[in-house]
Amino acid sequence: MLVAITREVSPSLGDCQLTHVARAPIDVTRAAAQHRAYQRVLASLGCRVLTLEAEPSMPDAVFVEDVAIVLDEVAVMTRPGAESRRGEGASVAELLARYRPLRRIEAPGTIDGGDVLRVGRAIYVGQSGRSNAEGISQLQQAVVEFGYRVQSVPIRGCLHLKSAVTAVRDDMLLLHPAWVDPASFPGFNIIEVHPEEEHAANILRIGDVALMPACFPRTAHRLRDADVEVVTVDVSELQKAEGATTCCSLVFEEAVSTQC
Ligand code: GLY
Repeated sequence: MLVAITREVSPSLGDCQLTHVARAPIDVTRAAAQHRAYQRVLASLGCRVLTLEAEPSMPDAVFVEDVAIVLDEVAVMTRPGAESRRGEGASVAELLARYRPLRRIEAPGTIDGGDVLRVGRAIYVGQSGRSNAEGISQLQQAVVEFGYRVQSVPIRGCLHLKSAVTAVRDDMLLLHPAWVDPASFPGFNIIEVHPEEEHAANILRIGDVALMPACFPRTAHRLRDADVEVVTVDVSELQKAEGATTCCSLVFEEAVSTQC
Protein backbone atom coordinates (compact mmCIF):
# COMPACT_ATOMS: atom_id res chain seq x y z
CA MET A 1 0.00 0.00 0.00
CA LEU A 2 1.26 3.45 -0.86
CA VAL A 3 1.07 6.21 1.71
CA ALA A 4 0.92 9.87 0.66
CA ILE A 5 1.72 12.44 3.33
CA THR A 6 0.13 15.81 2.53
CA ARG A 7 -0.60 18.99 4.41
CA GLU A 8 -3.51 21.41 4.14
CA VAL A 9 -2.84 24.71 2.37
CA SER A 10 -1.74 27.48 4.73
CA PRO A 11 -3.95 30.59 4.87
CA SER A 12 -0.68 32.53 4.42
CA LEU A 13 0.21 30.79 1.11
CA GLY A 14 0.29 34.20 -0.60
CA ASP A 15 3.44 35.06 1.40
CA CYS A 16 5.31 32.04 0.01
CA GLN A 17 8.92 31.99 -1.13
CA LEU A 18 9.31 32.76 -4.82
CA THR A 19 12.55 32.46 -6.78
CA HIS A 20 11.85 32.12 -10.50
CA VAL A 21 8.13 32.95 -10.62
CA ALA A 22 6.72 36.49 -10.48
CA ARG A 23 4.43 37.13 -7.53
CA ALA A 24 0.75 37.10 -8.44
CA PRO A 25 -2.29 37.16 -6.14
CA ILE A 26 -3.18 33.67 -4.92
CA ASP A 27 -6.78 32.69 -4.24
CA VAL A 28 -6.16 30.57 -1.13
CA THR A 29 -9.70 29.16 -1.07
CA ARG A 30 -9.24 27.98 -4.65
CA ALA A 31 -5.76 26.65 -3.86
CA ALA A 32 -7.24 24.62 -1.00
CA ALA A 33 -9.95 23.24 -3.29
CA GLN A 34 -7.34 22.29 -5.90
CA HIS A 35 -5.28 20.65 -3.18
CA ARG A 36 -8.26 18.58 -2.04
CA ALA A 37 -8.81 17.51 -5.66
CA TYR A 38 -5.12 16.53 -5.82
CA GLN A 39 -5.57 14.43 -2.68
CA ARG A 40 -8.61 12.72 -4.21
CA VAL A 41 -6.58 11.85 -7.30
CA LEU A 42 -3.84 10.36 -5.10
CA ALA A 43 -6.49 8.27 -3.33
CA SER A 44 -7.96 7.16 -6.68
CA LEU A 45 -4.47 6.02 -7.71
CA GLY A 46 -4.27 3.77 -4.66
CA CYS A 47 -2.61 5.97 -2.03
CA ARG A 48 -3.69 6.13 1.59
CA VAL A 49 -3.65 9.90 1.97
CA LEU A 50 -2.59 11.32 5.34
CA THR A 51 -3.25 15.00 5.91
CA LEU A 52 -1.36 17.18 8.35
CA GLU A 53 -2.99 20.36 9.64
CA ALA A 54 -2.16 23.62 7.90
CA GLU A 55 0.64 25.70 9.41
CA PRO A 56 -0.76 29.27 9.44
CA SER A 57 2.66 30.84 10.05
CA MET A 58 4.45 28.74 7.40
CA PRO A 59 3.27 29.80 3.93
CA ASP A 60 5.13 27.05 2.03
CA ALA A 61 4.31 24.16 4.37
CA VAL A 62 1.89 22.55 1.88
CA PHE A 63 5.00 21.61 -0.10
CA VAL A 64 5.84 18.66 2.16
CA GLU A 65 8.17 17.09 -0.39
CA ASP A 66 10.90 19.57 0.49
CA VAL A 67 11.33 18.52 4.12
CA ALA A 68 12.04 14.80 3.74
CA ILE A 69 13.49 12.19 1.40
CA VAL A 70 11.75 8.85 1.93
CA LEU A 71 13.53 5.72 0.77
CA ASP A 72 12.57 2.10 1.39
CA GLU A 73 15.10 1.76 4.20
CA VAL A 74 15.21 5.18 5.83
CA ALA A 75 13.81 8.72 5.71
CA VAL A 76 16.21 11.63 5.69
CA MET A 77 14.80 14.85 7.15
CA THR A 78 16.21 17.70 5.12
CA ARG A 79 17.29 21.15 6.22
CA PRO A 80 15.51 23.37 3.66
CA GLY A 81 17.54 26.04 1.93
CA ALA A 82 15.05 28.80 2.72
CA GLU A 83 15.28 29.75 6.40
CA SER A 84 11.53 30.46 6.53
CA ARG A 85 10.89 26.77 5.77
CA ARG A 86 13.05 25.15 8.45
CA GLY A 87 10.17 24.69 10.92
CA GLU A 88 8.06 22.70 8.48
CA GLY A 89 9.76 19.37 9.10
CA ALA A 90 8.85 18.73 12.76
CA SER A 91 5.30 17.44 12.26
CA VAL A 92 6.30 15.53 9.12
CA ALA A 93 9.13 13.83 11.05
CA GLU A 94 6.69 12.82 13.80
CA LEU A 95 4.49 11.12 11.21
CA LEU A 96 7.32 9.59 9.18
CA ALA A 97 8.88 8.07 12.30
CA ARG A 98 5.97 5.57 12.31
CA TYR A 99 7.17 4.23 8.96
CA ARG A 100 10.94 4.66 8.72
CA PRO A 101 14.02 5.21 10.88
CA LEU A 102 14.95 8.88 10.54
CA ARG A 103 18.22 10.58 9.71
CA ARG A 104 18.81 14.32 9.43
CA ILE A 105 20.73 16.82 7.37
CA GLU A 106 22.50 19.11 9.84
CA ALA A 107 23.78 22.71 9.52
CA PRO A 108 25.49 24.03 7.51
CA GLY A 109 24.08 21.49 5.06
CA THR A 110 20.92 22.36 3.17
CA ILE A 111 18.74 20.27 0.88
CA ASP A 112 15.22 20.71 -0.45
CA GLY A 113 13.48 17.45 -1.29
CA GLY A 114 12.42 19.05 -4.57
CA ASP A 115 16.05 18.79 -5.60
CA VAL A 116 16.16 15.04 -5.05
CA LEU A 117 15.27 12.65 -7.86
CA ARG A 118 15.56 8.93 -7.08
CA VAL A 119 15.56 6.43 -9.92
CA GLY A 120 16.31 2.93 -8.71
CA ARG A 121 19.52 3.10 -6.65
CA ALA A 122 20.57 6.40 -8.22
CA ILE A 123 19.82 9.61 -6.33
CA TYR A 124 20.33 12.80 -8.34
CA VAL A 125 20.49 16.06 -6.38
CA GLY A 126 20.22 19.48 -7.98
CA GLN A 127 22.92 22.03 -7.28
CA SER A 128 20.37 24.77 -6.67
CA GLY A 129 20.03 27.84 -4.51
CA ARG A 130 18.40 25.54 -1.94
CA SER A 131 20.72 22.50 -1.81
CA ASN A 132 24.42 22.97 -1.06
CA ALA A 133 27.46 20.73 -1.39
CA GLU A 134 27.54 20.02 2.36
CA GLY A 135 23.92 18.87 2.33
CA ILE A 136 24.51 16.65 -0.68
CA SER A 137 27.57 15.15 1.03
CA GLN A 138 25.56 14.44 4.20
CA LEU A 139 22.84 12.79 2.14
CA GLN A 140 25.45 10.57 0.51
CA GLN A 141 26.73 9.53 3.95
CA ALA A 142 23.18 8.84 5.18
CA VAL A 143 22.24 6.47 2.38
CA VAL A 144 25.46 4.91 1.08
CA GLU A 145 25.09 1.86 3.35
CA PHE A 146 21.84 0.98 1.54
CA GLY A 147 23.54 0.92 -1.83
CA TYR A 148 22.41 4.29 -3.15
CA ARG A 149 24.67 6.34 -5.39
CA VAL A 150 24.27 10.10 -4.90
CA GLN A 151 25.19 12.36 -7.77
CA SER A 152 24.91 16.15 -7.88
CA VAL A 153 23.53 17.72 -11.04
CA PRO A 154 23.90 21.37 -12.16
CA ILE A 155 20.65 23.16 -12.93
CA ARG A 156 19.92 26.68 -14.16
CA GLY A 157 16.87 28.94 -14.40
CA CYS A 158 14.55 26.94 -12.15
CA LEU A 159 13.90 26.36 -8.45
CA HIS A 160 14.61 22.66 -8.05
CA LEU A 161 16.03 19.72 -9.97
CA LYS A 162 12.52 18.25 -10.19
CA SER A 163 11.32 21.49 -11.82
CA ALA A 164 13.61 20.43 -14.67
CA VAL A 165 13.43 16.65 -14.74
CA THR A 166 11.41 13.78 -13.27
CA ALA A 167 11.28 10.04 -13.88
CA VAL A 168 8.35 8.69 -15.88
CA ARG A 169 9.67 5.14 -15.68
CA ASP A 170 12.92 3.64 -14.41
CA ASP A 171 14.40 4.06 -17.88
CA MET A 172 12.60 7.22 -19.01
CA LEU A 173 12.86 10.86 -17.94
CA LEU A 174 10.74 13.91 -18.75
CA LEU A 175 13.10 16.86 -18.98
CA HIS A 176 13.40 20.54 -19.90
CA PRO A 177 16.79 20.88 -21.62
CA ALA A 178 17.07 24.63 -20.97
CA TRP A 179 17.16 23.94 -17.23
CA VAL A 180 19.19 20.74 -16.98
CA ASP A 181 21.58 19.08 -19.38
CA PRO A 182 20.26 15.74 -20.70
CA ALA A 183 23.90 14.59 -20.77
CA SER A 184 23.72 14.41 -16.95
CA PHE A 185 21.51 11.33 -17.42
CA PRO A 186 23.28 8.90 -19.76
CA GLY A 187 21.41 5.70 -20.58
CA PHE A 188 17.90 7.10 -20.11
CA ASN A 189 15.27 7.58 -22.77
CA ILE A 190 14.54 11.30 -22.63
CA ILE A 191 11.24 12.97 -23.44
CA GLU A 192 11.56 16.74 -23.65
CA VAL A 193 8.76 19.01 -22.51
CA HIS A 194 7.00 20.93 -25.27
CA PRO A 195 9.00 24.15 -25.82
CA GLU A 196 5.97 26.29 -24.94
CA GLU A 197 5.41 24.42 -21.65
CA GLU A 198 8.65 24.99 -19.80
CA HIS A 199 7.24 24.12 -16.36
CA ALA A 200 5.86 20.76 -17.53
CA ALA A 201 8.72 18.49 -16.45
CA ASN A 202 7.41 18.03 -12.93
CA ILE A 203 5.28 14.88 -12.94
CA LEU A 204 4.47 12.75 -9.91
CA ARG A 205 4.93 9.10 -10.71
CA ILE A 206 2.46 6.78 -8.98
CA GLY A 207 3.20 3.28 -10.23
CA ASP A 208 2.96 3.54 -14.01
CA VAL A 209 0.87 6.73 -13.95
CA ALA A 210 2.26 10.24 -14.51
CA LEU A 211 0.26 12.82 -12.55
CA MET A 212 0.82 16.27 -14.02
CA PRO A 213 -0.72 19.74 -14.00
CA ALA A 214 -3.65 20.11 -16.39
CA CYS A 215 -2.18 23.15 -18.13
CA PHE A 216 0.45 21.26 -20.17
CA PRO A 217 -1.57 19.37 -22.82
CA ARG A 218 1.19 19.31 -25.42
CA THR A 219 3.67 17.68 -23.07
CA ALA A 220 0.94 15.28 -21.92
CA HIS A 221 0.48 14.38 -25.59
CA ARG A 222 4.20 13.59 -25.89
CA LEU A 223 3.96 11.29 -22.87
CA ARG A 224 0.88 9.52 -24.19
CA ASP A 225 2.66 9.04 -27.52
CA ALA A 226 5.32 7.18 -25.52
CA ASP A 227 2.60 4.93 -24.02
CA VAL A 228 2.67 6.64 -20.64
CA GLU A 229 -0.64 6.83 -18.78
CA VAL A 230 -1.21 10.47 -17.87
CA VAL A 231 -3.61 11.81 -15.25
CA THR A 232 -4.00 15.56 -14.88
CA VAL A 233 -5.05 17.84 -12.05
CA ASP A 234 -5.59 21.59 -11.95
CA VAL A 235 -3.03 23.09 -9.56
CA SER A 236 -2.92 26.59 -11.04
CA GLU A 237 -3.04 28.42 -7.69
CA LEU A 238 -0.29 26.22 -6.25
CA GLN A 239 1.79 26.88 -9.37
CA LYS A 240 1.65 30.60 -8.52
CA ALA A 241 3.49 29.58 -5.32
CA GLU A 242 6.14 27.83 -7.44
CA GLY A 243 4.67 24.44 -6.68
CA ALA A 244 3.39 21.63 -8.88
CA THR A 245 2.55 17.95 -8.43
CA THR A 246 5.58 16.33 -6.77
CA CYS A 247 5.98 18.92 -4.04
CA CYS A 248 2.53 18.52 -2.46
CA SER A 249 3.11 14.97 -1.21
CA LEU A 250 5.58 12.44 0.09
CA VAL A 251 4.59 9.11 -1.47
CA PHE A 252 6.13 5.84 -0.32
CA GLU A 253 5.42 2.18 0.30
CA GLU A 254 3.86 1.74 3.73
CA ALA A 255 5.57 -1.54 4.47
CA VAL A 256 8.75 -2.55 2.75
CA SER A 257 9.76 -6.19 2.50
CA THR A 258 13.28 -6.80 3.74
CA GLN A 259 13.46 -10.21 2.04
CA CYS A 260 15.95 -10.59 -0.79
N1 GLY B 1 7.28 28.39 -2.86
C1 GLY B 1 8.03 27.20 -2.83
C2 GLY B 1 9.41 27.44 -2.41
O1 GLY B 1 9.98 28.43 -2.86
O2 GLY B 1 9.98 26.74 -1.63
